[in-house]
Amino acid sequence: DGYTVAILGATGAVGARLIQQLEQSTIPVNKVKLLASYRSAGKKLQFKGQDVTVEEAKPESFEGVDIVLASAGGSVSKKFLPEAVKRGAVCVDNTSAFRMEEDVPLVVPEVNEAALYNHHGIIANPNCSTIQMMVALEPIRRAFGLKQIIVSTYQAASGAGQSALNELYSEAQEYLDGKDMNSDIFPTKGDEEHYPLAFNLLPQIDVLEDNLYSHEEWKMIHETKKIMLGDMNSPEIKVTATCVRVPVPISHGESIYIEVKDKSATTEKIQELIRQAPGAVLEDDPKHQIYPQPINAVGKRDTFVGRIRPDLENEGAFNMWVVSDNLLKGAAWNTVQIAERLVADNLVHN
Ligand code: A2P
Repeated sequence: DGYTVAILGATGAVGARLIQQLEQSTIPVNKVKLLASYRSAGKKLQFKGQDVTVEEAKPESFEGVDIVLASAGGSVSKKFLPEAVKRGAVCVDNTSAFRMEEDVPLVVPEVNEAALYNHHGIIANPNCSTIQMMVALEPIRRAFGLKQIIVSTYQAASGAGQSALNELYSEAQEYLDGKDMNSDIFPTKGDEEHYPLAFNLLPQIDVLEDNLYSHEEWKMIHETKKIMLGDMNSPEIKVTATCVRVPVPISHGESIYIEVKDKSATTEKIQELIRQAPGAVLEDDPKHQIYPQPINAVGKRDTFVGRIRPDLENEGAFNMWVVSDNLLKGAAWNTVQIAERLVADNLVHN
């Protein structure tokens, strides 16, 4: 007679979409618990037209909960998800806290749904930029094999949370009013220097590491290998990334260059694969200026693919442009989609 579902981080940018995607999902929901910090306790949100009071998350909050959807930050997941598992819940975690743990499946259902069968209570939702790249590239990998992926991202402000999105808007207003822009969040909250994002580009997402890559770039490389090949360090596909924050509110863009193994690949064959691919939509008609744009992807569950074209000098290599709503397929929808599969495959209680 339905499941009790808890949303951890219900008041955030992703949390709002988790509520909405759960409302629209096939999961029979008996009861929903909305959890956030003490700051939001007592606040009222709606689920399917009913008021639900937000509670401060505590270990006891997970008593009697079947499914946890978490998006309140890595440290919050680290603190609470083991408590939820102890109480018998299965957790789908949108943070990076558990993604690289051996016994935690990292899942994009279009690619590696079968990994769900090995879960031990926690399933990780990949990074937003990784997810949309997987939806676009997995059908190509299956048909032609992949040797190398070179990706540059154009990532929306909302990927850093609701307060970051608010900062972009206030900076834009300050700039247009001829005032100094106040920047406290970008490029990344915990770092020393802060720079404006409005009317700017920031080639830093998450912290810059000693290996000269940002942590976001590191995630794209190793998550891709774990999802596609089952091993975060597999040498089978070479992956490299440059991640850039752009002053777009919602939806990430990605310029992706791939080298395939099978040289019979053509632009037309790749277009046909994308047309058939679950979760992907081909928007590729240069004659009519049709290509994916962040503005058009907002609110959609799909990943949009266009500008597919062969490298003119390197045979078996292609460029493409991929856009998706980072808060939906990149976060809330992939999380709820995983939960739908857990329910459908009878994997909620193990
Ligand atoms: P709150 O609104 O009470 O601070 P975003 O990613 O948009 O910044 O949202 C972060 C989400 O994580 C919010 O729902 C926020 O709740 C929640 N959150 C932050 N810290 C905690 C905490 N210590 N315990 C539970 N939820 C938290």
